[in-house]
Amino acid sequence: MAEHSFPPLKNDLLLRAARGYEARRCPDLRALTPGGAAGRYLPEYHEAKGGRDFFECCRSPEIASTLTLQPIERFGGLIDAAIIFSDILVIPQAMGMTVEMVDKKGPHFPDPLQTPQDKQYIELMERHVDVAKELDYVYKAITLTRKKLDGRVPLFGFTGAPWTLLCYMVEGGGTKLFKQVKTWIYKYPEETKALLQKISELCVEYLALQVKAGAQIVQVFDSWAGELSPSSFKKFSQPYLAYIAKHLPLRLKELGLEQVPMVVFPKGAWYALDACADMGYQVIGMDWLHDPAEAVKIIGDRPVVLQGNADPGVLYGSHESITEVVTEMVKGFGWAERKKGWIVNLGHGITPFVNPDDLKFFFQEIHRLTKTD
Ligand code: CP3
Repeated sequence: MAEHSFPPLKNDLLLRAARGYEARRCPDLRALTPGGAAGRYLPEYHEAKGGRDFFECCRSPEIASTLTLQPIERFGGLIDAAIIFSDILVIPQAMGMTVEMVDKKGPHFPDPLQTPQDKQYIELMERHVDVAKELDYVYKAITLTRKKLDGRVPLFGFTGAPWTLLCYMVEGGGTKLFKQVKTWIYKYPEETKALLQKISELCVEYLALQVKAGAQIVQVFDSWAGELSPSSFKKFSQPYLAYIAKHLPLRLKELGLEQVPMVVFPKGAWYALDACADMGYQVIGMDWLHDPAEAVKIIGDRPVVLQGNADPGVLYGSHESITEVVTEMVKGFGWAERKKGWIVNLGHGITPFVNPDDLKFFFQEIHRLTKTD
């Protein structure tokens, strides 16, 4: 039994597609963001955010729900889902770490994890983390957003993947070198795995509580998966993604909640597509390094839906280029023959300075080129 009662869903295209049903038209999921799609390309985002700190917006259910709804309001019937306004870094915060969002620079941890010998690591491993209490504001934002959405589209909940969260926790922010996290996996593999396991357990509980609050589908963002080699992906990412896919359904059952589709987005780890199709996720998010036709072949007859995968950079291009990229995608995913197994999305979030009208054109082209009725 769900904890809340919400208005009935009027557009179930995305949930039907995620479950592998034939869709009337290809669902065109709004671009899921790399820190900041919702945001910076929309003038109304800056207006609603005002001078507030980013995490302050995440912690305010009223502001977070307003920001979640902005693309839905602006793009009307063109998009088939919303994603809750939050960030993957709320998990390290719940674990007791300080994370700031520095303007124009991105996330910053003033005190990242140094080595497993440090007091900080030992305390973190011993600490009981109550994600119900610490992230209560996220659940409240989800419940309020479901009410405000009034059934227009389903709502995504999300978490960072254990590997990607570990990267931030030891690097302290964005990085090009990945020096710290590579030191961890190649010098302290056992301690690294222990921490990844702890994060995985928190991710399961966090996602379950998001579903309890009203999330209708969930996505696990492994944004830094591509920094691992195929062999180290198998050791430091895959087991933990698989753990989440196995344990979330069990936890939902335990809580008496309905099952929801699960999406995994292992950015950059094109070599892992085949393995990801056997991990228990219903949907695999793909970046633009994949050739759609090849990906469809790799999936074969397994019941997995692909989500993606236009290069977000095309939104800087001409309308002719946008049409070309959409046409290639529609062809590559075999839409005309299959009519299922694909959720349209960008291959990563919308980058700064994109003109919202060009994004709108992208959405319209998808509708035009995938229309079947
Ligand atoms: O569209 C949405 O708003 C959905 C909510 C959302 C945000 N972050 C809001 C956000 C989601 C799903 C995320 C996920 C997220 N956050 C990821 C995984 C997706 C991906 O990008 O691969 C990652 C790695 C983060 C961490 C993060 N948060 C980074 C690296 C940044 C800075 C990005 C940059 O280029 O400056 C953020 C900031 C962030 N997260 C913003 C928003 C709206 C921008 C804040 C602002 O500048 O106002």
